[in-house]
Amino acid sequence: MASIPLKKNKNKAGTGSTGSFFRQWGMFFRQFMKHPGMIGSVIPSSATLVDRMLDQVDWRNTRLFVEYGPGVGTFTRSILDRLPADATLLTIDLNLDFVAYLEAEIDDPRLRVVHGSAADVRRFIKEAGHYQADYVLSGIPFSTLPDGVGTAICAETRAALRPGGAFLIYQYSRYVCDMLTPLFDDVSDSLEWRNIPPCRMIRAVKQDLMAQAA
Ligand SMILES: C[S@@+](CC[C@H](N)C(=O)[O-])C[C@H]1O[C@@H](n2cnc3c(N)ncnc32)[C@H](O)[C@@H]1O
Repeated sequence: MASIPLKKNKNKAGTGSTGSFFRQWGMFFRQFMKHPGMIGSVIPSSATLVDRMLDQVDWRNTRLFVEYGPGVGTFTRSILDRLPADATLLTIDLNLDFVAYLEAEIDDPRLRVVHGSAADVRRFIKEAGHYQADYVLSGIPFSTLPDGVGTAICAETRAALRPGGAFLIYQYSRYVCDMLTPLFDDVSDSLEWRNIPPCRMIRAVKQDLMAQAA
């Protein structure tokens, strides 16, 4: 799998001129029909879910934000709207069609689009010239992943986060919580009804021992 960003379509403008609502939904639905287990949802996340997930982030102190499973960029555009000018957004998706779509649709120097598995996040962070992430946001359907992959992704994510960093997950069930609890110091979740179907918002924090000792 390529870990090198694909070439951008320079004819496209920034996040404002993205593909139409229907084009995004059509693309998403086609990919779901092709790979139901990998996509895990028939339609993209709602605007309310996006806002509520991103409201948890301390944007001013964010230098590297990682997004797993950006799909057609439902969260990606809103992350870029909030991200500081000198920060980086690294997106990782296993589906090459989504990677190519995102590369063609969003032209932003802060965005690095990678084709690969979230299980390799530390390698991708290193290749992007960073050491650790401040936040990792995930839309990956943990309950339909092959055996062992979910646990590996959670362990790698913890290692990839800086102390005090957080793993933010939106998911239709609490299935992933059993993988997070042994690894993270603080795991909490709540429900967002304004999504089809209603969605769990899970936050797993990697404790900052230095801050605690001070
Ligand atoms: C439910 S879709 C989320 C799409 C979008 N973020 C949204 O909220 O509408 C799940 C995404 O996870 C991606 N995915 C599945 N397994 C993955 C893995 N191991 N690593 C990275 N991405 C993965 C799929 O290709 C798909 O883009």
